[in-house]
Amino acid sequence: MPDFQAILEHIYQDAVIASDKGTVASYIPELAHIDKNNFGIHLRTSDGNDYGVGNYNKPFSIQSISKVLALSKAIALIGEGTWKRIDVEPSGHPFNQLALLEIENGIPRNPLINSGAIVIADILISNLKNPKEDFLNYVRDLTGDETINFNKDVAHSEKVTGFKNYATANLLKSFNNLNNPVEDVLDFYFHQCAIEMTCQQLTKAFFFLANKGICMLNKTRLTKSQAKRINALMLTCGFYDEAGEFAFEVGLPGKSGVGGGIVALLPDHFVITTWAPGLNKKGNSKLGMLTLEQFTSKTKLSIF
Ligand code: DON
Repeated sequence: MPDFQAILEHIYQDAVIASDKGTVASYIPELAHIDKNNFGIHLRTSDGNDYGVGNYNKPFSIQSISKVLALSKAIALIGEGTWKRIDVEPSGHPFNQLALLEIENGIPRNPLINSGAIVIADILISNLKNPKEDFLNYVRDLTGDETINFNKDVAHSEKVTGFKNYATANLLKSFNNLNNPVEDVLDFYFHQCAIEMTCQQLTKAFFFLANKGICMLNKTRLTKSQAKRINALMLTCGFYDEAGEFAFEVGLPGKSGVGGGIVALLPDHFVITTWAPGLNKKGNSKLGMLTLEQFTSKTKLSIF
């Protein structure tokens, strides 16, 4: 078995001195203050061992990483019905692109771009009694940690500046692919994205996807086939127009967020989370991508 702690420390030391750490997302004003020198890595192996380096216990805005957890909750609630309203193809375009949605009559390409995640938010609102509270509790249950919460300032910051998401939701509504009011759906979506978690908490929350759909902490579970499908979507769509590059360099299903986090996993082996807030031009963490490429190269652990 590789010496995971030594490997993580080595990768961390090499990456932390990079002169170009990318650019912190500023289109959500509240995220613009985050120091791009933050850098953390956390790994949990299937035999339950934990390894961490740097700021792996510091909470950050999970942003689009939440889309995977929202999708898993929607699948748990309505199963195959999810796919009547969303496709499962990579978009090859940025996460907030609108053109394809219009060309394809309001059916989002996949649930991990913004349009697809907004339809998932609509499904959750229709199927949860207290949507925001119930979703937060779902994330807390997956993690076994009651301290996880929304950052309301981040949610508000996106609410007053997220014009492209309003355009997306309105376009979905015009194609009858939203059942709830645009304001309600986006309020839920902005809160879901504004959940703050640490690398360690995210690793725990995603563990069920590396464990055939079964969460070790409680009764939360998907079927093996549902977990397989979510992992397939992360591999093909988790990095938007950089999904090919991530598969090519890293070779794992994964999901990024503009808060600078990335979660990636190898079924039956491990979950790994990185946080480095500086992003590359496609909106994915620059050091995070580098770290994961190094990790799978050094350990030779990938799905390929
Ligand atoms: O909707 C948005 O633009 C953000 N709340 C989430 C975008 C995001 O994290 C894209 N991922 N890399």
